Amino acid sequence: MDSIKVIDMLRKGIILVVIVAFVVNAANAVEGMWLPIMLKKYNIEQMQAEGFKLSAEDIYDINKASLKDAIVGLVRLSKPFRHFCTGEIVSPEGLVLTNHHCGFGAIQKHSTVENNLLKDGFWAMNKNEELTNEGIGMCLLKRMEDVTAKVLVNIPDGADAYIRDSVIQSNIAIIEEDAIKETHYLAKVKPFFAGNEYYLSVYEIFRDIRLVGAPPSAIGKFGGDTDNWMWPRHTGDFSMFRIYANKDNEPADYNDENIPYKPLMHLPIAIDEIKKDDFTMVMGYPGTTEEYLPSFAINLRANVTNPARIKIRTEVINIMKTGMLTSPEVRIQYSSKVAHKANGWKKRIGENKGLVRLNAIEKKQEQEKLFTDWVNQNEERIKEYGDIFNNYEDLYGQLNEYQFVYAYFNESILGTELIDLAGSYSDLFEYKKESNNEDVEMKIDDLTKKTKNFFKDYHRPTDKKLFVALLSFYYNDVDAKYHPKSFSAIDKKYKGDYEACFINLFEKSMFNNPEKLNNFLNNYSVSKNKKLSSDPVMKLFIESMYVYHNSVSPYLVSIKQDISNLHKTYVKGIRELNSDKIYFPDANSTFRIAYGKVDNYIPSDAVEYKCFTTLQGIMEKDNPDIFDYDVPQRLRDLYKSKNFGEYANSDGTMPVCFTASNHTTGGNSGSPVLNADGHLIGINFDRNWEGTMSDLMYDPEMCRNITLDARYILFIIDKYAGAKHLVNEMTLVKESKQNPQAIKKEKK
Ligand code: ARG
Ligand code: GLU
Repeated sequence: MDSIKVIDMLRKGIILVVIVAFVVNAANAVEGMWLPIMLKKYNIEQMQAEGFKLSAEDIYDINKASLKDAIVGLVRLSKPFRHFCTGEIVSPEGLVLTNHHCGFGAIQKHSTVENNLLKDGFWAMNKNEELTNEGIGMCLLKRMEDVTAKVLVNIPDGADAYIRDSVIQSNIAIIEEDAIKETHYLAKVKPFFAGNEYYLSVYEIFRDIRLVGAPPSAIGKFGGDTDNWMWPRHTGDFSMFRIYANKDNEPADYNDENIPYKPLMHLPIAIDEIKKDDFTMVMGYPGTTEEYLPSFAINLRANVTNPARIKIRTEVINIMKTGMLTSPEVRIQYSSKVAHKANGWKKRIGENKGLVRLNAIEKKQEQEKLFTDWVNQNEERIKEYGDIFNNYEDLYGQLNEYQFVYAYFNESILGTELIDLAGSYSDLFEYKKESNNEDVEMKIDDLTKKTKNFFKDYHRPTDKKLFVALLSFYYNDVDAKYHPKSFSAIDKKYKGDYEACFINLFEKSMFNNPEKLNNFLNNYSVSKNKKLSSDPVMKLFIESMYVYHNSVSPYLVSIKQDISNLHKTYVKGIRELNSDKIYFPDANSTFRIAYGKVDNYIPSDAVEYKCFTTLQGIMEKDNPDIFDYDVPQRLRDLYKSKNFGEYANSDGTMPVCFTASNHTTGGNSGSPVLNADGHLIGINFDRNWEGTMSDLMYDPEMCRNITLDARYILFIIDKYAGAKHLVNEMTLVKESKQNPQAIKKEKK
C-alpha cells in the first residue's frame, strides 16, 4: 500500500480503514479473473488505461466474431463436463495450441518403447498423419448470460436451505434446457459469489480432436518436476491439435470424412520483441480460487489437509520415481502418473509457504475483526451477520476431522490403483440373474477395455510397494474407527505387522493379475459376483466405501452445506461493506479474462528475478546425466549456429519464457497470453512457486504467471522440427502496434 493511502487512512479514521483493508491496491489492480460479459461495465477503461487497444466487443461479442471465438476449453468426454486446460485456435483450419502437459496424456497414450512420442516428439507432416484421441473434446463458448433473477425465482418466503436448493436446481434445469433448444449445444448454469449470482454458459463441444505436433519431452517438459512451479523457467510447454468437424462445420464423432474445423476467428501471432511492462491479457478457463474464505478455512487448508496430502504424496512420488529407473518401459508407464502427483504435491508445498509468508491467517482475522466492527454499527447488520464467525468457528471445528479423513481416503485408499480398479468392477454387483443380458455385456466390454488400459501402465513391483505404503499411511494416521474391517486381521492374525498383512492382501487379489481378470471377464456370469466380492482388494473397496458412506460423507456433506450457506451471507456482507469496490467472482471453470503486464519480481531479500529467459539458460542447465536437463543434440546445434530465423530478439538471443502479473490458476494452462493488440505472444503454463497461494490470497508483489514465448514455439516448429507447413498455416504479424486492426480482418 503506498504511503499517501496510509496517511489518508490515519486522517480519516476507522471507517476508511475498514474500506481500504478490503480493497486491493487499486492503482495496480492485477488481481482478478473477470467475466467477459462484465468487461464493458467494470474493466475495459482500466484495461485501456493500461495499454489495451481493443474494445470490450473485440473480446466478447455474440453478434460478430470476437477473440472468444478463438479460445477453446479442453474437456474429457467420458467425465462430467469440466475444462481441464485451455487452448487457442491459431489457423483458419482449426489448428489449436495448448500446453505439452495438457496434451501429455494423449501423447503418452500414443507412445510405446519402439515408437516413443513422449521421448522423440511428434510432427504430422500432413493431415493424414494426425492422430486421433479418443475421449478428448474441445469446447467453444457461444454465449454467457446473467441468469440470477431466473434462478432465484419462486423461492417461497422463509424456505429452509433444502427447499431453497431444490427450487434453485429445478430452475437451473429449465434454464439449461431452454438455452439449447434446437441446437447441438451444451448449457451450464453455475453459482458465482458463493451463490449470490448465477451465470449461464452455452458451449459447442467438438469431439474429433487430432494430435498434430508435440516437441520431445526434453523440450516440452524441459526441467521436469525439478523446475515445475518455478522461475527462472525454460520449458517449451506446448503441443498442437486440430479440431475436426463434419461437412457442415459442426461437431461430430471421429470419422474419416470429417474435415478441419473452420473457426470464426483465429489468433494472429505477434513476433515482435516483448518488453517489461507491456500490457498482457490471459483468456481461458481457470478452475478454482477461494479468495473470500474466512481464517478458519485457511487454517484447515494450511494445517490439516495440505500437510496430509504432502506427506502421502512425498512417499508415492519416491516409489514411482524409483520404479521408473528400472526400465524405459516403466518410465513411460509412470511418467504421466508421477507428473500428476508431483504437480499437486509441489503446488501445496509452495502454497503453504506463501500462506505463512503472507501471515494469511492473521490477515484474514484482521479482516474479520473489521467486518465485525462494521456489523456492530447497526441492528439490521447484527441480525443478518452477527453470528457469522461464531458459526464458522463451530462448523470448521467439526469439519477438520472429517476433512482430514477425506484427504486420507482420497490420497491413500482411492490413491491405491488396485482399489480404484476394484471400484469399477463393483458396478457388476448391480446385476442379478434377471438382469438384461445386453446391459451386462456392455459393462463387460467396458471393463475389458478399462482393464487393458490399466495394465498398459502397470508395473507390479512398483504397485505392490505403493499398495503397502498407501494403506500403511491410512492405518497409522487415521483413527481406527474409520478403518476398513479387513484391518482387524492386523492385530488378530499378524500381531501388529501391518505390512505383512497388506502384502498378503495384495498377493491374494486377482486385481494385479491381467490373466486372471481377463479370464474372469471372459467367463462372466452373475453367479461369479460371489467370487468377486471375496477378493481381498474388492473387500477393501467395499469396506472402505461402507466406512466412508456411514461415518464420513453424511457429516462432511451436511457441514459443508451449512458452511456454504454461511459463505453466501459472508460474501454478500463483504461486498456490501465495500460497495464501491468491484469484486471478481472466484474462478469456477468458466470463461475469464485476466490482465496485467510483463513484470519481474523479488522472491527474497537481495534477489531479483528478471522477467525473460532465453535459450542460453537451457544451455546453462544442460546436463546429459540429469534426465530433466538433458538437452537434445539438435537444439544444442541450433543454438551454436544461431539459426533462430525471424524469431530472435534484436540482440540475437532466443526468447523462451517470461513472467507477467496476470492472475491465473489451474485450468489456465494453455491459455493464450495476448498483447495490447489482441495478438498471441505466448501460452500460459505455470505460476511461480512464491505465488502459488494466489488461489487463496493474491499478492501483487509476488504473484506471477509463467508464459512460454510464442516465438520459441515457432522456432521449435520451424527450425527444430522442420514443420514449417504448420507455421505457414498461422498468421504471423510484426510491428503489430501499427496495425491494431489486424484481427478484425478475420471477422465474418
Ligand atoms: N505446474 C503446471 C500446472 O499446474 C505444470 C504441470 C506439468 N508439469 C510437470 N512437470 N508436472 O499444471
Ligand atoms: N499448470 C497449470 C494448469 O495446468 C497452470 C498453473 C497454475 O495453476 O496457475 O492449469
